[in-house]
Amino acid sequence: MPIQQIVAPPARAAMFLVLEVSDGAEDSVRDFLGAAPGYTRAVSFRSTGASFSKDILSVVGVGAEMWDRLFAERPRHLHPFAEVAGNTHTAPSTPGDVIIHLRAPQMDLCFELARIMLDKLGSGVSVVDEVHGFTYFDNRDLLGFVDGTENPEGSDAFGAVYDAGDEAFPGGSYLIVQKYTHDLDSWNAISVEEQERVIGRTKLEDIELEDDVKPSNSHVALNDVSDEDGNDLDIYRTNMPFGRIGEKEFGTYFAGYAADPAVTEQMLDNMFLGDPIGNHDRILDFSTAVTGALFYIPSAEQLDSIDELAPADGSEQDGGETDVDADAAPAVIPDGSLGIGGLGPR
Ligand code: HEM
Repeated sequence: MPIQQIVAPPARAAMFLVLEVSDGAEDSVRDFLGAAPGYTRAVSFRSTGASFSKDILSVVGVGAEMWDRLFAERPRHLHPFAEVAGNTHTAPSTPGDVIIHLRAPQMDLCFELARIMLDKLGSGVSVVDEVHGFTYFDNRDLLGFVDGTENPEGSDAFGAVYDAGDEAFPGGSYLIVQKYTHDLDSWNAISVEEQERVIGRTKLEDIELEDDVKPSNSHVALNDVSDEDGNDLDIYRTNMPFGRIGEKEFGTYFAGYAADPAVTEQMLDNMFLGDPIGNHDRILDFSTAVTGALFYIPSAEQLDSIDELAPADGSEQDGGETDVDADAAPAVIPDGSLGIGGLGPR
């Protein structure tokens, strides 16, 4: 079951493009979904000469309302992102029909691939949010803390990310994104020890605070979630710092992939509503969520055969003509290897 590659070491550069699709541009989106892996392969080949290079990773996804405009049947957990309004802080829900998430060792690769993709999508598609993210020293966010340490690894990561139980849509995933901006003046006005109690880890060495000193409203405490049997529930985060110095914009683009978005939503409830209610995440006293959207991430196999999915009533199926041979796109299988050249199943 080839899948879009989500689990990967932190990239030095990333781009997040959230798109809106005008009425009538549905066919160009359907064609784009089938062709996206081929565009990625083309840019990668020009850059490194290796068509199966993992240097540039692209993940494309579709929001619930857009999915309904394209296809008859929804993946089982796909729904619009619901606002989470706590007593003090709110996670807004903002528009998003399609997401493109690009990762590479250099921004030029992301930039080139994004340019080609948007060109192919055409004038019926507009960018409603564009974030260029960068690695900040040793994978730190702009609050100065190392971000990503407790991401699941190996088979745990694949289990956290891919929904293997949806028979009609095997190997898909769900992505929730939120753009946060930080109030660095207030953040830098508190001591490092206080900042460590906000996050729940030490700042320099990135060690988790002991349970007896870690506050219940720390970011780590509220995001450590488990099911009713006490099993840890994980998501896979690919957050990136971004900003504009002149605008005093300092941000974190949160991007959390999950096999079931209910896990991410549980974390958001804990952060914004609080656990118990009112005990909200202190990171929010220094960080404001300005966007929020949920997308279904089809498997690579499904992208390859996207024109075989039953179309939405009234939507045209045009046979999936694409400019780039998507069948030849590299596939990644759940053990992290590439399903190419007889090295593994496709
Ligand atoms: C302002 C935006 C955010 C920033 C700056 C941020 C930063 C961090 C940092 C520094 C850590 C500790 C190191 C690590 O394990 O990665 C962490 C952990 C974590 N964050 Fe966030 N985060 C943000 C938003 C979110 C959101 C919105 C979610 C979920 C909806 C989330 C889920 C998690 C999880 C699951 C952990 C690991 C907790 C554990 O140790 O078990 N984060 N985050």
